Amino acid sequence: MTPIAVPEELAAHYAGYPAGPEWIAALPDLAAEFLERWELRPDGAPAHGMVALVLPVRRADGAPAALKLQQVTEESAGEPLGLRAWAGEGAVRLLDHDADSGTMLLERLDGRRSLASVPDAQAALLKLADLLARLTAVPAPAGLRTLAAVTDAMLTALPGALPELHDADQRRVLENCAAAVREVRGEPGDRLLHWDLHYANVLASLPGSGRGPWLAIDPKPLAGDPGFELMPALRNRWEDLAATGDIPRAIGRRFDLLTEITGLDRQRAARWTLARVLQDALWAIEDGEHELGAERSTLAAVLLDRLD
Ligand SMILES: Nc1ncnc2c1ncn2[C@@H]1O[C@H](COP(=O)(O)OP(=O)(O)O)[C@@H](O)[C@H]1O
Ligand SMILES: [Mg+2]
Repeated sequence: MTPIAVPEELAAHYAGYPAGPEWIAALPDLAAEFLERWELRPDGAPAHGMVALVLPVRRADGAPAALKLQQVTEESAGEPLGLRAWAGEGAVRLLDHDADSGTMLLERLDGRRSLASVPDAQAALLKLADLLARLTAVPAPAGLRTLAAVTDAMLTALPGALPELHDADQRRVLENCAAAVREVRGEPGDRLLHWDLHYANVLASLPGSGRGPWLAIDPKPLAGDPGFELMPALRNRWEDLAATGDIPRAIGRRFDLLTEITGLDRQRAARWTLARVLQDALWAIEDGEHELGAERSTLAAVLLDRLD
């Protein structure tokens, strides 16, 4: 069989990851190994995101599926565990899994239709909120990373990161985020969280499959409070927020709608969303940034403003 071609963009992302180039070099052999082991034949153009190569395939009985190959990291390690716990309810089904390499065989969805492609921003948000409620109704299985541990790591990292921000007001914003997070740290929650539920990680099911119609892919599962899930939905499609002419108000409306549909307590949800903003800011600082940036600053301001 002709070896699969590794997309250049994917290879470029991996150039910056530890052992990334080695993983990319071995990727064609890994793909070939699993096509053979699971009796699959390629069925269409490969897709990829920042970390995964996804090959549309057919199983021996002709059923469509998707072969997902990615380097196992602390974040992605829980993906099969999470998908198994959801058992197809709101998320893509896991059909097979190899623990050593992290390779997964998934139910095939429509890789070209995600919530990012739904033109009506409000309609996309409602679908995402509905999915969020379904996904977080499930208790986290044992063995997942916990929001408690993630939160403690953030609060520990903050003092070292703060001096990297050049602006004193921005440092104060992060300190205020941390103060809000400390108020909810004692109740970190026990739900199965997706942690990366942005619009491109929600795909349409295949026509006639009787599934979906929208299903989550690509979780980085955590055990925790559903409030920690809201940030991607608040922040994605920033241009839609900008088009309203009043970004803070538009973010507030998204927050109200999401918390209403998911039935979350607004005060707790605001604090856990601030935790997610803090996490995102710490990642950016780790990557060498010295500014909070307009999106994080605006999100933080809107949510801090809502605290009692
Ligand atoms: N089950 C699936 N069926 C069809 N296409 C998929 C499936 N899962 C992922 N894809 C395609 O592969 C892309 C990358 O997959 P994803 O799991 O989001 O990985 P990444 O972590 O790299 O973002 C998706 O944006 C989508 O186009
Ligand atoms: Mg993705």
